[in-house]
Amino acid sequence: MSAPNKSYDPVEVEALKPENIERMRDEALAAFAAADSLEALQEAKTAHAGGASPLALANREIGALPPQAKAEAGKRVGQARGAVNKALAVRQAELEAERDARVLVEESVDVTLPYDRVPAGARHPLTTMMERVADVFVSMGYEIAEGPEVEAEWFNFDALNFGPDHPARQMQDTFFVEGPQGPGTTDGESGVVLRTHTSPVQARALLDREPPVYVVCPGRVYRTDELDATHTPVFHQIELLAVDEGLTMADLKGTLDHMVQALFGADMKTRLRPNFFPFTEPSAEMDMLCYVCKGESIGNPDRPCRTCSSEGWIELGGCGMVNPRVLTACGVDPEKYSGFAFGFGIERMLMFRHNVEDMRDMVEGDVRFTRPFGMEI
Ligand code: PHE
Repeated sequence: MSAPNKSYDPVEVEALKPENIERMRDEALAAFAAADSLEALQEAKTAHAGGASPLALANREIGALPPQAKAEAGKRVGQARGAVNKALAVRQAELEAERDARVLVEESVDVTLPYDRVPAGARHPLTTMMERVADVFVSMGYEIAEGPEVEAEWFNFDALNFGPDHPARQMQDTFFVEGPQGPGTTDGESGVVLRTHTSPVQARALLDREPPVYVVCPGRVYRTDELDATHTPVFHQIELLAVDEGLTMADLKGTLDHMVQALFGADMKTRLRPNFFPFTEPSAEMDMLCYVCKGESIGNPDRPCRTCSSEGWIELGGCGMVNPRVLTACGVDPEKYSGFAFGFGIERMLMFRHNVEDMRDMVEGDVRFTRPFGMEI
């Protein structure tokens, strides 16, 4: 509040003249009416109704008036300020209502829009299947072992007792990256291939570790097949290797039975049929009981089974006792240790387990194929 000022005529204070007070009021009302946003109104409020506005400054002059002039000037300023504050409140309410109406439109959510325009993905069922099989063995204490997909010919063939002229080495089965060495080549250097099976990981695991060795090796393998409904040049296998003292074919059979029971149900079993692999001796083809008909379709025309074509058994893969020559090539004493191994294709298992009829569906990457398998980990 300013101190009384003796240097001017108190009744004639310029700011308190009625026409000036009216002008201040009208300017304030015009500014509020012109404010087209809450921000603009805030500025007008500071300018015309704030502590430093002309009306507030005029109000301060009242104190300097002589008592007889105070009442009238006070009434005039008070009425003007009252009108200004009322107009401010009215405009404030109008602008807030406008803003609320606009926000309701601008920020509205259309609850009828589709919510899943970015649909959840799925893990590839081949991955899930490999992990599932590997888990069966990890829970028995096996270790996961891996090897390179671009593999030395020595690991893929020589270490596994494939002779230099074994037909599987030839171009019609094997993708050679460097080489091939082939029959009659004498430089002794190993070529480089895309591994044709996961069995080279057996040799790598034996060279890396001291027995006892218990490993499970899932991985991608390559063969020079055309892509069609039942073949693909890139596919997946899972390999098992156990090397310890005193292992026999009975351990192999028990392990296979345990695996199919863990994967397909408690009443499952396997059977072995004689076969030949250079790296196992004796070798066998392993079949598992058809998990759909449990063998009941055999010779039973009333109960045909599509899953096993009424064979009762489903062929899984190869197995056998590790050939002592493989143990020797990998620095393991075959007099002290013996072992068993098996390997099978994951694509085939996925085909019969989920009735996938065309292998191409597994490699084309269409989410409509993978999505029904979901996100299982
Ligand atoms: N590697 C063999 C194949 O690809 C399968 C196999 C693995 C056989 C282990 C015996 C032992 O057909």
